[in-house]
Amino acid sequence: MNETMKTILSRRSIRAFKDEQIKTEELQLILEAGQFAPSAMNGQPWHFTVVQNKELLHKINEACRTLLAKSGNKMFEERVKDPNFSVFYHAPTFIIISGDEKAMLAQIDCAVALQNMLLSAESLGIGSCWIHALASLFSTEEGAALRKELGIPDQYTPFCSGAFGYKAMEPTAPPRKEDIVSIIK
Ligand SMILES: Cc1cc2nc3c(=O)[nH]c(=O)nc-3n(C[C@H](O)[C@H](O)[C@H](O)COP(=O)(O)O)c2cc1C
Repeated sequence: MNETMKTILSRRSIRAFKDEQIKTEELQLILEAGQFAPSAMNGQPWHFTVVQNKELLHKINEACRTLLAKSGNKMFEERVKDPNFSVFYHAPTFIIISGDEKAMLAQIDCAVALQNMLLSAESLGIGSCWIHALASLFSTEEGAALRKELGIPDQYTPFCSGAFGYKAMEPTAPPRKEDIVSIIK
């Protein structure tokens, strides 16, 4: 099996990370992988916000905790009661991808970029997890202030985010559904 297939098949959502920060060169490669994703009409309508500052990571986490505590979702409401709760599983690097509101398919473009980044992380031996909980955060009052602090450009919407760091777990793949392919020859 070639290396690309091995990377695709071995990537897992990692939900426990080591404290150690990833190397700057590794971060740059992950960001480059995101920017080389395909995008509708080559619009590249994305902006990448990398958060490695512990205080800011804490602030984002607490804002998510508050939001999820009022979400009406029993599972989330229970999860955030844990004092050790971390929406990004204590990953040392958290990346938010925001899309230009003027672009036709910005949300899809941002998602494709994030997937490229998850795969490039795996190829570098770095764990990652797609984190969706943030999506509704920026429409709240606290979220709007955070958005400013994060320097997300005006007219860009934070669509996707991911946690990155060295793995502190090696999960096995959840089983994949069967009978989901039709090949017509
Ligand atoms: C759009 C999307 C949103 C997701 N949001 C979260 C999330 O908020 N938290 C989380 O732990 N995992 C999240 N995941 C990861 C999925 O739970 C994971 O991909 C799935 O269980 C399959 O496991 P695997 O990635 O190891 O193959 C998300 C994945 C996608 C594609």
